[in-house]
Amino acid sequence: MHSRSLSRRDILKGSALLGAGLGFAGALAQPPPSRKGLGVGLDLARPFLRIPPVVRPDGLVLRCAPGVVDLGVGQPARCLAYNGLLPGPTMLARRGETATIALRNDLPEETITHWHGMVVDTPNDGGPQLHVMPGETYNYQFPIIQRACLNFYHPHTHLRTGYQVNMGMAGGFIVRDAEEDALRLPSGRYEVPLVIRDASVDANGDLIYNAGSSGFVGDFSLVNGQRFPRLLVDRGFYRFRIVNGANARVFRLALSNGGTFSVIGNDGGLLERAVTLSEVVIANGERLDVLIDLSSVRLGDRVFLRCLDANWNLVEFFGTGQPGQLYQIPGTLSTVERLQGPATVTRLFSFDGMSRINGRRWEMGRIDFQVPLGVVERWRFETGGNAPHPVHVHGASFQVVSRSGGRGQVFPWEAGWKDTVLLLDRENVEVFVRFDGYRGEYVMHCHKLEHEDMGMMSSFVVV
Ligand code: C2O
Ligand code: CU
Ligand code: CU
Repeated sequence: MHSRSLSRRDILKGSALLGAGLGFAGALAQPPPSRKGLGVGLDLARPFLRIPPVVRPDGLVLRCAPGVVDLGVGQPARCLAYNGLLPGPTMLARRGETATIALRNDLPEETITHWHGMVVDTPNDGGPQLHVMPGETYNYQFPIIQRACLNFYHPHTHLRTGYQVNMGMAGGFIVRDAEEDALRLPSGRYEVPLVIRDASVDANGDLIYNAGSSGFVGDFSLVNGQRFPRLLVDRGFYRFRIVNGANARVFRLALSNGGTFSVIGNDGGLLERAVTLSEVVIANGERLDVLIDLSSVRLGDRVFLRCLDANWNLVEFFGTGQPGQLYQIPGTLSTVERLQGPATVTRLFSFDGMSRINGRRWEMGRIDFQVPLGVVERWRFETGGNAPHPVHVHGASFQVVSRSGGRGQVFPWEAGWKDTVLLLDRENVEVFVRFDGYRGEYVMHCHKLEHEDMGMMSSFVVV
């Protein structure tokens, strides 16, 4: 462990930096504009979508502690939070920078934070073999070596991941680079992070974790920590950076007006070309970067972002009638190197029951296989049932090659670079993966957090 205790001075320095991060140029959307002149039809009981503060992970202190938040359900909710927020602050860094983050554990139990999607070395990966004891601090320091993307930080605590995430610990981690800057995508208040999950509360309104063996199934949705919030929208394009931060729920997103999403990116950053769809599926642990044209939403019009599977309204877009930012989507967004077969190694991973991969439960210290650095391999994911199993790999991104059985296709939002792919019952999914970052120990696992905690995870070493 590289833990050391943090002095009071360090904590103060960290919070000053956190404050400084709020005014960072190029920050994401900040609180909504004035409601003046919006007239009737604005039901003031609905909470406004909360935009988590943007912070630079540059000397940042990230404090894990019990907290109290407003979920927009009428009473304060006890939860676990990063820096008192649910979701935690949005980290924003550029490729080439170095992230330094002190994780301070003020929970009454162990924790560790993983930067899902970040390519970092083993001591910085925050896997379940690491832990920070209550009252201690873990210091992360890693260079940002990957392209622009949206990642997802959350606890990865041995046996306690499902609980700690469900109680509120999660946040977005945005990486920017010059390639993305050149596209001049909708920005400022037109770039909006949406961390979507489900939740349940007890009679006091406090978050409760009552997972069954097939995973946690919450009673209602939270978007950026609130139930069915409202975003005031101008007549223009919006860029939504979506994380499915649920423990186990898959969302099937659609717009109530039949409008379309242009998917421009996913887990590992930009796609080569935008794809326009009226429905997108996002499994827990996956991310989407979508543009939505709201230029036809007039003053007082409402459009809902919905989940068709749960039949929930997730967010209300309420028109201000004001002119927004128009955007012409370029024909080519990026170039994506195609990982080439034939791969000399094919590995089979069977997701069995609710707690095993290839018949075995995860055990701390057991290494199941070794992967050579810099070599393309074919990994095949299968299941005997109990899906959805969103399969997630640490340490590298992969490319989805095929899906047979079940839904029988690779979906347009699964193009490009991925680190999580949805495996449903009877499906076989093949990916090409190449570990280019670091040698060291990593895990791959089912991102249904209850399955992960029960042992549906495997450790491997990149050599
Ligand atoms: Cu999002 Cu290994 O986790
Ligand atoms: Cu991860
Ligand atoms: Cu699973």
